[in-house]
Amino acid sequence: MNFIEGENLDRWVKQCRPLGRKGRCAEYIPALGESNLLDLGVCIITPEGVEIKSGEWDVPFTLQSISKVISFIAACLDRGISYVLERVDVEPTGDAFNSIVRLEMNKPGRPFNPMINAGAITITSLLNGESPEQKLNSVYELLEKMIGRRPTFNERVFQSEWKTANRNRALAYYLKEGGFLEAEVEDALEVYLKQCSIEVNAKDIARMGLILSQNGYDSIQKKQVFPKEVAKLIKGLMMTCGMYNASGKFAAFVGVPAKSGVSGGVIASVPARYEQKIPFQMGCGIGIYGPAIDEFGNSIAGVELLKNLADEWDFSIF
Ligand code: DON
Repeated sequence: MNFIEGENLDRWVKQCRPLGRKGRCAEYIPALGESNLLDLGVCIITPEGVEIKSGEWDVPFTLQSISKVISFIAACLDRGISYVLERVDVEPTGDAFNSIVRLEMNKPGRPFNPMINAGAITITSLLNGESPEQKLNSVYELLEKMIGRRPTFNERVFQSEWKTANRNRALAYYLKEGGFLEAEVEDALEVYLKQCSIEVNAKDIARMGLILSQNGYDSIQKKQVFPKEVAKLIKGLMMTCGMYNASGKFAAFVGVPAKSGVSGGVIASVPARYEQKIPFQMGCGIGIYGPAIDEFGNSIAGVELLKNLADEWDFSIF
């Protein structure tokens, strides 16, 4: 069975790869502008630990907005769900990931969700610890538990973004003024941009997707990494807000919780489905890397690949 699925995966990667030409790298972070537009890699991991990989699954890339999933879980573990939700809501916006408009239009300007930048910057300020290093460590510790090693850090990407983060700075100042930020502006920004610059590959995020699909249980290391309650909450957020203002289309045409980042990563979490004779019946984690992104900030070839896989293997939860 895995052999056939592996062959199919190669076929879909080959078919979707040229779509990279239609997208662009995230040039607003100059260091990301150098990625290869035609890279496309995927890794699928089953609860038993079977890995099916194709293309550039081992090329390192920075987490970018995928880190918002990890920092949200870490903040819930550090401060409790209700404390976190008093400061960040769980409603989709339909706006761009870095939009500032709702912070001014709604009073009090509580961020709509932790998947947009305003929400994610607020979340970083809630992490345990006083200093940016301590707060970032909360994110690293959770990541280490999930992928079994401490991931590397891309200093160039961080420096590149730190110097150009004018809009994120503006968002952070708004949040500070509204009383939502439990840290100094520059400190919260440093944690947020550093978590975005943590480096992983498609296999690492597939592991993370698998743990989410098993509701916080790591079926490979055989341990509960975070509570089911937190897993359900973040998957709801990924489903409704994870692909930004393309989340509705993604829910309709792929139908699984997912989160993208502007470096071209997409993490997807396929839950167990109990129909007869479908592959990946017990669920799986999927990690994708395809650095050419569309106007929403989502990997153009990666999303198409996920659509094809969802059709072929009936992944949708709907
Ligand atoms: O805040 C930023 O601009 C980036 N570091 C992260 C944004 C991101 O990945 C949005 N995702 N699609």
